[in-house]
Amino acid sequence: MGHFATGVTVITSIRSSGELHGLTANAFTSVSLIPPLLLVCIDKKAESYPCFDESKVFTVNVLAADQEALSRRFAVTGGDKFEGVSYKIGANAAPILDGALAYLECRVTQKIDGGDHTIYIGEIEQAETKEGKPLLFFRGGYRELGD
Ligand SMILES: Cc1cc2nc3c(=O)[nH]c(=O)nc-3n(C[C@H](O)[C@H](O)[C@H](O)COP(=O)(O)O)c2cc1C
Repeated sequence: MGHFATGVTVITSIRSSGELHGLTANAFTSVSLIPPLLLVCIDKKAESYPCFDESKVFTVNVLAADQEALSRRFAVTGGDKFEGVSYKIGANAAPILDGALAYLECRVTQKIDGGDHTIYIGEIEQAETKEGKPLLFFRGGYRELGD
């Protein structure tokens, strides 16, 4: 799988208690245009897994080339990952990270068991993009577009 180049996202969500969660993920793909659906795969061992499992919403933040530090921060378990990070709360109540190349606010429509991960299908309720270069991940390392 490491030979398949991907973008990098931070998937955020919120617990019923109001606690915010997020993790770096590249297991993300589009599913359907009508209705607009996407999927993400979350490790059942992740600390934020219970949040994703109970929450009905999540937001996919597509990282820009200059957000490698943010990707590293959200790829480590523990601590308050949002401390010192600029974000706003979206219409679905999940955090939207400032500076992301795009964000897609979703409502969970289906959960599918996927071995040690759970596949969440979300209907996109709101999305926004901005100009810029993406952060890429390939063979275990961060990359940037060469052009
Ligand atoms: C580039 C990259 C892609 C990742 N993709 C995923 C993914 O798709 N799904 C997932 O569950 N974890 C993925 N991870 C691992 C999580 O980010 C990592 O386990 C994180 O510590 C989980 O945070 P948590 O334990 O606080 O929930 C990825 C990590 C990196 C660096």
